[in-house]
Amino acid sequence: MVTGATGFIGSHTCVELLDHGYQVVVVDDFSNSSPQVVSRIQRLAGRFLDAVYKVDVRDRRALSSVFDRHRVDAVVHFAAKKAVGESVRLPVEYYDVNVGGTTALLATMHEHGVRRLVFSSSCSIYGDVDTSPLTEQDPARPSNPYAASKWTCEQMLADVCRCRPDYTVLSLRYFNPVGAHPSGLLGEAPLGEPDNLMPYLAQVAAGRRERLRVFGSDYATADGTGVRDYIHVMDVAEAHRIALEHLGDSTGLRVFNLGVGSGTSVFELLTAFGEVSGKTIPYEVVDRRPGDVTELVADPSAVTREWGWRASRDLAAMCRDAWRFQRLNPTGYAAG
Ligand code: UFG
Repeated sequence: MVTGATGFIGSHTCVELLDHGYQVVVVDDFSNSSPQVVSRIQRLAGRFLDAVYKVDVRDRRALSSVFDRHRVDAVVHFAAKKAVGESVRLPVEYYDVNVGGTTALLATMHEHGVRRLVFSSSCSIYGDVDTSPLTEQDPARPSNPYAASKWTCEQMLADVCRCRPDYTVLSLRYFNPVGAHPSGLLGEAPLGEPDNLMPYLAQVAAGRRERLRVFGSDYATADGTGVRDYIHVMDVAEAHRIALEHLGDSTGLRVFNLGVGSGTSVFELLTAFGEVSGKTIPYEVVDRRPGDVTELVADPSAVTREWGWRASRDLAAMCRDAWRFQRLNPTGYAAG
């Protein structure tokens, strides 16, 4: 079962899973995605998803009836809200959807004897850190409600695994997933104004938005703009398939960073995107965004050590694929 399967990371993961012979049951409320994505996933994989349910994961009755209808071996749980800025405006909503959704899912899994979960966590749980790169042992100090909601879920999962020794949970802390499927059929297509840097850049390059607002150039970084560890969404999708293959290695909660291991500033990404797209990207520096931190870069060596896997796509590929998706889908999934 994949929750949030038609979202940005979920959709790429579904293609990867179908490509590797998995049978996939989808649960999604389509609140920040489009049903179009379902047909695109199937088209790319050349196979059908087993079933698609329009269900809000907080709706335990509806979720339970999905478990009744399918023999679920494992759940990959993407369904959540994920914008830092929005979470500062809507903190209760973030706890409700992200923590409430995970609680409902865990309760329903338990009722149906499903004990294996891959959870979408986030590098943002590390907060405003002085350490770089970050290992999984660095402390969590979430600095906004989105990050706090993900950290609350991780703590809940740790408790569940401590109390129930037959549970197997992998929590993957993504750094900043960007890019798109190389076909240009799947990508990041937020409804409304994008919160995240890469889709915003792509829309400015395409002339859909006037200019990028750079949120602060007074950070303690080389060029003053925020630094993140951008990772190609195809690498993230691949990591989920590999995570499923390793779920059976041991019981309990295991946590892994998913990043490339190097940092890129807002200005560096802007330059890289300009080169790939051949466009001049207008921008203006504005105030810092509430809840943002200076720098988040992964030490991704644990996942390489454990699974022999590492991210393989570079920044140019991330920009190229995001730009292709933008050009082929100028209004996201809306038109077709
Ligand atoms: N930024 C801008 N202008 C924008 C958008 C972003 O300058 O219009 C800057 C931000 O200040 C930050 C960097 O670009 O320095 C990246 O910002 P994003 O919004 O793209 O992503 P975040 O670093 O805020 O990452 C958060 C969470 C991740 C999550 C990601 C996607 O930390 O876990 O959002 O939702 F994956």
